[in-house]
Amino acid sequence: MLQGKEILLGVSGGIAAYKSVLLLRELTKQGANVNVIMTQSATEFVGPLTFQTLSGNPVTTDIFTLFASSEIGHVALASRADLLVIAPATANIIGKIANGIADDFLSTMVMATRVPVLFAPAMNTNMWASLVVQKNIANLKEMNYHFMEPAEGELACGVIGRGKLADIDAIMDEIKALLSPDDLKGEKILISAGPTEEAIDPARCLTNRSSGKMGYNLAAVARRRGAEVILVAGPSAEFETWGIEVVHCNTAIEMANAIDANLEGVTSVIMAAAVADFRPAKQASEKIKRDGNYSLELEPNPDILAGLGRRSDKPFLVGFAAETSKLLAHAKDKIKRKNLDMIVANDVTAPGAGFVVDTNIIKIIDRDGQMTDFPLMSKEKVAGVILDHIIKLKNQRRLRGPVS
Ligand code: PMT
Repeated sequence: MLQGKEILLGVSGGIAAYKSVLLLRELTKQGANVNVIMTQSATEFVGPLTFQTLSGNPVTTDIFTLFASSEIGHVALASRADLLVIAPATANIIGKIANGIADDFLSTMVMATRVPVLFAPAMNTNMWASLVVQKNIANLKEMNYHFMEPAEGELACGVIGRGKLADIDAIMDEIKALLSPDDLKGEKILISAGPTEEAIDPARCLTNRSSGKMGYNLAAVARRRGAEVILVAGPSAEFETWGIEVVHCNTAIEMANAIDANLEGVTSVIMAAAVADFRPAKQASEKIKRDGNYSLELEPNPDILAGLGRRSDKPFLVGFAAETSKLLAHAKDKIKRKNLDMIVANDVTAPGAGFVVDTNIIKIIDRDGQMTDFPLMSKEKVAGVILDHIIKLKNQRRLRGPVS
């Protein structure tokens, strides 16, 4: 989603300046064109050449820099940009901007621009907690500037507390949120992700290959677009989420209970989780020994989605169909059987689709049988088209009015 975006990266003078090099790398990797503006003190921590080499653009440190002969530097950059992020933002730059001081290129730029400005502060714990910094931040927030909360941990000065630059992934997520439309504002979406695990004995379980990536991407993109998101997640190793409430569970029954307990006010449910259809009929209390033949008796788990489909107050229901053959026939059958509003069908045997990979190939089918085919896309993009489709179908229904 950052492809072709123009980002201004302001770097002020703190030890965390080296981390903004990583932020620049991530921004450019994801397709953004980045222009870096450094304060004089930032150049004491990291050389402008590093930012210039990695961004492929000249780095501005001087208020009198000229771009094209007729353009005033800060005005030219400010008018081209989609967003300005200041990372790290020191107490000094926050204080200057909060009080209308524009005595260097970065503070001048903030005043000259009309694009969203995101501050990612980093400073000593006591400075962060000081009344003057907090008042400046409160004033800036009131003026619609955006802030990341710094992280807690061991700071460069040896103190343990809040003040570390927020995680780069968290800053990236916030940048994407600020660049996304707010078209899911007012929606409360419950998303399930990952596999479930059904214990056989204390050491073994029945599970599947779901990594959780599809569901976590849905949750991240929905939050960025303004939805309130609850993520109910089976065991999944690799993710962190920012600004999203995650309810962790292991078994299908735990997932069913977690979903049930969190349905209040939910407008849509998206079941991306790969829920185990069966669980061992008995769970051994000791590790089962290898002596002779062994067979495992299974009993069915509840079908969570079908249960939601039977509710009289059912929210908008989106299921997934993970198939290995007859994709469309099985998906259409699931829409009917589970009383869904829409289903996302993926052939999990196709290269680049389904479990574990970062991409997926999907078909979206609605309850009227309308089908839309999508090519191979990142799971982040897939999440975007699924959410677009939900909005489209809900709007169509609103226009049609209640069915008598
Ligand atoms: O997690 P990843 O590695 O990113 O992989 C993504 C994915 C392949 C898991 C995902 O794209 C996907 O297809 N998820 C649904 C997997 C699945 O369980 O499909 P199904 O066809 O067996 O189930 C149909 C629907 O019923 C699903 O929405 C499922 O969540 C739901 N279900 C299934 C069984 C059950 N007991 N209760 C349910 O609610």
